[in-house]
Amino acid sequence: MERTALYAGSFDPITNGHLDLIKRASKMYDKLVVGVIVNQSKKATFTLEERKLMIAKATENLPNVSVDSFDGLLADYVNANNIDVLVRGLRATMDFEYELQMAHMNAHLFCSANNHVETIFLMSSPNYSFISSSIVKEVYDLKGDIYGLVPDVVIEMMDKKYKNK
Ligand code: COA
Repeated sequence: MERTALYAGSFDPITNGHLDLIKRASKMYDKLVVGVIVNQSKKATFTLEERKLMIAKATENLPNVSVDSFDGLLADYVNANNIDVLVRGLRATMDFEYELQMAHMNAHLFCSANNHVETIFLMSSPNYSFISSSIVKEVYDLKGDIYGLVPDVVIEMMDKKYKNK
């Protein structure tokens, strides 16, 4: 039976921490969908299309990885798209409580829909455990070096975006 996993997030922008998780999860499942959330309380720096393009370019050598977007409840997307597993990353203990709450709420929602989807947690590689999208943008804004922290396509698109401002 083919197994499809979903790795969802805002990816504003995708970092090498996300990419590391995508590479590792793509080896564990037949298909991995990277799901970019459309509406979130956070105001995005990059448009949805820009975020999807950066992910598509960064993962172009991973044939079983695709990029999609969704609005509303993640559980609804999962139910509508035959997702078997949710993949999340844990960078540090501070991620744990929030992730546990989300996993339990999603389990409740799956249960109400008579679905059974597990959330699987992968530990971030120590090389990337200090990275988040916001900290990368802050360092870039202050002219710090973000080489190696994000895929090259993200640096190209950040340069383009900020040059045009
Ligand atoms: N490597 C690098 N950075 C990582 C990371 C990793 N492995 N894991 C998380 N991050 C960072 C992200 O870059 C982001 O950083 P930022 O705050 O600086 O932008 C931060 O951690 C939060 O991650 P993100 O994935 O953007 O958002 P989230 O943790 O809030 O969860 C969804 C995103 C899509 C899973 C969640 O919001 C959701 O399910 N939304 C749909 C609505 C819904 O169903 N709500 C009920 C949920 S139970």
